[in-house]
Amino acid sequence: MCGIVGYAGGRPALGIVLDGLRRLEYRGYDSAGVAIVCADELLTEKRAGKLANLEKVLGERAEADPTDVDCGASTLGIGDGTTGIGHTRWATHGGPTDRNAHPHLGPDGKVAVIHNGIIENFGRLRAELEADGATFVSDTDSECAAHLLTAVLAKLRAAGEPDGPRLLASAMRQVCQRLEGAFTLLAVDARVPGAVVGARRNSPLVVGRGDGENYLASDVSAFIEHTRDAVELGQDQIVLITADTIEITDFDGQPADGKDFHIDWDASAAEKGGYDWFMLKEIEEQPEAIAATLLGRLTDSGEIMLDEVRLSDQDLRDVDKVFIVSCGTSYHAGLVAKYAIEHWTRIPCEVELASEFRYRDPVLDRSTLVIVISQSGETMDTLMALRHAKEQKARVLAICNTNGSTIPRESDAVLYTHGGPEIAVASTKAFLTQVVACYLIGLHLAQVRGIKYADEVAAVVDQLQEVPGKLRALLDRIEPVRQLARELKSAPTVLFIGRHVGYPVALEGALKLKELAYVHAEGFAAGELKHGPIAVIDQGTPVICVVPSSAGRGMLHDKVVSNIQEVRARGARTIVIAEEGDQAVLPYADEVIYVPRTPTLLAPLVTTVPLQVLAAEIAAARGHDVDQPRNLAKSVTVE
Ligand code: F6R
Repeated sequence: MCGIVGYAGGRPALGIVLDGLRRLEYRGYDSAGVAIVCADELLTEKRAGKLANLEKVLGERAEADPTDVDCGASTLGIGDGTTGIGHTRWATHGGPTDRNAHPHLGPDGKVAVIHNGIIENFGRLRAELEADGATFVSDTDSECAAHLLTAVLAKLRAAGEPDGPRLLASAMRQVCQRLEGAFTLLAVDARVPGAVVGARRNSPLVVGRGDGENYLASDVSAFIEHTRDAVELGQDQIVLITADTIEITDFDGQPADGKDFHIDWDASAAEKGGYDWFMLKEIEEQPEAIAATLLGRLTDSGEIMLDEVRLSDQDLRDVDKVFIVSCGTSYHAGLVAKYAIEHWTRIPCEVELASEFRYRDPVLDRSTLVIVISQSGETMDTLMALRHAKEQKARVLAICNTNGSTIPRESDAVLYTHGGPEIAVASTKAFLTQVVACYLIGLHLAQVRGIKYADEVAAVVDQLQEVPGKLRALLDRIEPVRQLARELKSAPTVLFIGRHVGYPVALEGALKLKELAYVHAEGFAAGELKHGPIAVIDQGTPVICVVPSSAGRGMLHDKVVSNIQEVRARGARTIVIAEEGDQAVLPYADEVIYVPRTPTLLAPLVTTVPLQVLAAEIAAARGHDVDQPRNLAKSVTVE
């Protein structure tokens, strides 16, 4: 939700900032802008729409007048400054217009600020600033930070404070003390060339440590091309970068430490690599992502080894209730996990939407284990639920794909999924690896509580280890799903049904289709249709039916087959996802997509995949941007 980049170094900043924004565009793409400090001038450009609009304008500017700054003997343009900030926006306050795009400038035109988050007291601050004579030119909450920073800088300078980077940091600290809500702010001041100051509260910001240059960004993908050494910032911290220094303090000016970490994937992982869309690449990467999440997590003696889980075996034996709390696709991963965790551990497990959790006043105590699932590790709803759980003394275990992000840092323990960067807004490989991580936690809980023995755990892990190969085989023969997508591209409504773990798969299939293809889609528990929703089925309505294995839980299989007959009898076009060799579905299926045989509890790892492909291909066939669906952003850092 808004991507932010800052650079201080010896190279021209504009290209570096734009490259960073390109990699962060998945965080928001309503508008984009840059501010570059060149000599002692501030040069800015911003435009509504995708980053390409800004790049086009910058290109025209370079052609028309590459000489923005007259330096006596020479003239310089926006492409020459070596300090800069850039922003790609997901609008909250104020529509996606040129005016509301960031950066926002202070009244003297010397200070530029970019912001991610929501300044909740901006109404009061704006009224106060306007009463003092300020004129606002945008509808955003962010602009008041630019006005405040300018005013504080003026006051400090008038008081004779020495000018320079530390003055900028000191002014930013005073601004942050006035702000309520969530924010990452970056600012430059033309009178302080060579410095970028950043601040964060409840919103992401990481530092990239370069050689003679340093970076600030919402996430590491913005600077991975230049450095893999990063510094994680804590809550309520200010960071000041110049070409050679990184200084971190808290909001009171006390020196603070960041946590160094090394990024263990390279820039190519965040490239499309020949695919039309990141999403298609990420779907293809799922076998490797699952294998990486499983790697090294089973000891030779068959014990699950979760070394990042800093909860003792006794803590886990004391657990009498599990809550899984998350949003969107991560919530669906939690719904799948409930079946496995309750089945393996016999501990009651509730799955809750993070945005509802704390308002419901859930009953939590020290023996409650709250598992928060978040790909980004920054989702504000999930973060607030986590904090509520900790206030109630529950133990919190995070499942996360993003090293150094806020949610794992604030949790008692973390199990990282090793899916690699997920750039497409719609989550795919993150979902499957989250489900795998939940299975590992369920098995581990069952093992330490003596419900499952090493050989039983090892058997499930063996089955899990077969999944990457099965997925590869499935992906290698996915073409018919693409063909089907072309046929379904004009359907006004698509329904998804499933039972047991197939139910969350149906919900996930519907979510993918809604968010990518903008088609009305709904997922139902197959048995629930007859209690109302079946009324919406009309002649030709596509109903995608996720059919469980006929092995083991045959009753479940037969019930879903009956439900398929019910919808077909009402005119539905039935598209059936069934395991290879399932002949029983054939008489009632208009189309069958066979997936490799997989034990029931693990089946979502294969049955979800055709639904991901279907949604992406329908979206592409309808002419939509698969990676950047309208109105959405990858990392939702507002409540
Ligand atoms: C849908 C999707 C979202 C996210 C949700 C939570 O494809 O990606 O529904 O799953 O916003 O995000 P994280 O997992 O980052 O907390």
